[in-house]
Amino acid sequence: MPESRCLQGIWSSPWIFIFAASGSAVGLGNIWKFPYVLGENGGGAFLVVYCLCLLLVGLPVLIAEVALGRTVRSNPIDTVNDLSERRIVHPAWVLVPWLAGITGFLILTFYSVIAGWSIAYLDRAVTGEFNNITQVGASSMFNELLATPSEMLLWHSVFMGLVVLTVGQSVTRGLSAVVRILLPMLVVTLVLLACYSMMIGNMSEALNFMFRWSWQNITFDVVLAAVGLALFSLSVGMGAMFAYGAYMSKRMSIARACSIVVGVDLLVALLAGLVIFPLVFSFDIDVQAGPSLTFVSLPIIFGNLLGGQFFAGVFFVLLVVAALTSAISMLELFVAWLHEKFYIARLKAALLMGLAVWFVGIAVLLSLNHWDSKLMYGLNLFELLDKFTSLILLPVGAILLSVLVAWFIPRSMLQNEMIAKQTNHFQWWYKTLKYISIPAMIVITLAGWIGA
Ligand code: PHE
Repeated sequence: MPESRCLQGIWSSPWIFIFAASGSAVGLGNIWKFPYVLGENGGGAFLVVYCLCLLLVGLPVLIAEVALGRTVRSNPIDTVNDLSERRIVHPAWVLVPWLAGITGFLILTFYSVIAGWSIAYLDRAVTGEFNNITQVGASSMFNELLATPSEMLLWHSVFMGLVVLTVGQSVTRGLSAVVRILLPMLVVTLVLLACYSMMIGNMSEALNFMFRWSWQNITFDVVLAAVGLALFSLSVGMGAMFAYGAYMSKRMSIARACSIVVGVDLLVALLAGLVIFPLVFSFDIDVQAGPSLTFVSLPIIFGNLLGGQFFAGVFFVLLVVAALTSAISMLELFVAWLHEKFYIARLKAALLMGLAVWFVGIAVLLSLNHWDSKLMYGLNLFELLDKFTSLILLPVGAILLSVLVAWFIPRSMLQNEMIAKQTNHFQWWYKTLKYISIPAMIVITLAGWIGA
């Protein structure tokens, strides 16, 4: 399909895809979720499994999503409709992009609440509330925030407002410029913080915890947690990368671009771990604390650091922008579809979707205080959405999407899409997806559910 037929525009340079996709991948998943899931699942052994999952599941599925997006150059729903009209696939496959869109929607309902915590912490950082804070002080600061729905509502609304305004514009505009500056700054800040944290914290125990391999800790639900985190962190299994692939220039090798995105994503997650864990061990914070881990550890580091107020301000601004560049990719699927199919202006479509997310988000933030009822498996709404999306919806979405690409889309169509000269890239990817990623995801997901 000629590039001029793309309705939403093409990234103006091949590198822009890499920046935009990294912007989607790098976010709260790396800085908030990775450390706590690593903590809950026993450290080093989990890290090895996680790296394998990134390589053998995350990367092949990411390539599949991007390749499919670039082949058809439309939003995922219309893409599958189009393929079924051309009798390439059965019409029932259209359920897959719908599931993907719903997953993105559900993730955003709690993602926005956590991004709201980051804005709340930015506010506390610049007003000097972290100065000389103790571990007890940091825990009670976080608990106080959770107990104040009005404050969470304020920041959740601010964040959703930013998401709507950004998605309302064309995503090909502006986004990459932001990510191009943000990402290097985030990496440099994390490196500095990691060095400082290792100086004041318990470096040896942190390194031991993060990198020491021990078999005993590996169970199927640990592996499922690793698959879920890999998919979440790479933003795959829900059509976000599909949408970005649709805007990708044909000049770029998909395999190379995606490998860079995976590398950047892992680097940021590891750096976040190196910032958090030395403190966790020296201040006796519970490694299994769960979602609060990052938010209890960070104020301690800033509170003790010379110029900590300034660094904390910079860090939380970067974190909020990183969350924003991820969040917009969650809404993009439905917004692009409403715009392309029904000619609804992007801003209006973003507003509609944003309002719906905002409403559900209110229930999510209330589930952390006034409405803390256990809905299922002893989990409240917030915990349920976090686990349900990572351990069920993303793996199922990724399996279905990969089966569609590997078994139903004609091989020649995909082969044309992966730059012709690099046939061995194609072979490597196609075989891995078909014979390793898909069977592994099916076995792990089923075994993880049964074991849970
Ligand atoms: N990858 C993002 C992060 O790490 C989260 C995300 C999940 C974004 C799914 C889009 C889709 O924060």
